[in-house]
Amino acid sequence: MKDYQPAADLLKNRVILITGIGEGIGRAAARRLAGYGATVILLGRTIRKLEQVYDDIEQAGGPKPAIYPMNLEGATPKDYADLARVLDTEFGRLDGVLHNAALFAGLTPIANYDIELWYRILQVNLNAPFLLTQAVLELLSRSSDASVVFTTDQVGEEGRAYWGAYAVAKGGAQTLMKLLASELETNTNIRVNSIDPGQVRSELTLRAYPGRDPAEWADPEDIMATYLYLLGPDSKGVTGQTFRAQD
Ligand SMILES: NC(=O)c1ccc[n+]([C@@H]2O[C@H](COP(=O)([O-])OP(=O)(O)OC[C@H]3O[C@@H](n4cnc5c(N)ncnc54)[C@H](OP(=O)(O)O)[C@@H]3O)[C@@H](O)[C@H]2O)c1
Repeated sequence: MKDYQPAADLLKNRVILITGIGEGIGRAAARRLAGYGATVILLGRTIRKLEQVYDDIEQAGGPKPAIYPMNLEGATPKDYADLARVLDTEFGRLDGVLHNAALFAGLTPIANYDIELWYRILQVNLNAPFLLTQAVLELLSRSSDASVVFTTDQVGEEGRAYWGAYAVAKGGAQTLMKLLASELETNTNIRVNSIDPGQVRSELTLRAYPGRDPAEWADPEDIMATYLYLLGPDSKGVTGQTFRAQD
């Protein structure tokens, strides 16, 4: 999918919510989706970073984005219901969700895994995508072409040693993607897929491989074709699939 050539106005009139846009892949996705005409809802926990991405999009002439500060670790079901209500009031629609935010605290064997950290990681990486998707499902169902995209990771599929709660959450989110796609396949306009970004230069990879040269990894800006494809109309009818962004 890396050779996909999107139309310049691919995402015109679409409202797309992206989580974890302060850094890395989320930041690149927010800017790129806006560059193709999407109105992006910038959800993240660090206001300074949200404002920076907002400014980047405005300066590049993209549609006016919206900032939604939210810490997925402490967010309650009511917070998600409030988010859905605000989106409905402010935009009256939602055409896409990119579940991108992730918490990763380093490689640790299960024998020594901190129990509180285990809960925190499952909350951000697995429970939050569930809670958010459930809260906005009705809003998505009103779109004629809605797309939900989860972000997976090879380490979750493999059950790779030392990746602990992060790998378990990614495996669980992948199962959630498949069952949701299957539930929504008939009688809805909502498709659900996953992207595995592959190894990409970011805070997360630096934490996992502190000794490695970051130049070995792809730049987030260079893996955006799959994101555009899945969040735009060209993937209509595609559901329950996993896409490798660097293939
Ligand atoms: N990088 C890779 O090689 C790779 C490979 C496979 C999959 N992935 C997946 O790709 C996605 C993006 O990863 P990345 O490499 O770009 O990671 P990153 O640079 O660490 O960015 C993660 C983002 O998630 C946000 N976040 C973390 N906890 C949050 C919380 N409690 N509430 C709200 N936002 C929170 C962070 O916010 P702050 O900016 O405020 O810290 C940050 O902006 C993740 O789902 C990751 O699992 C990455």
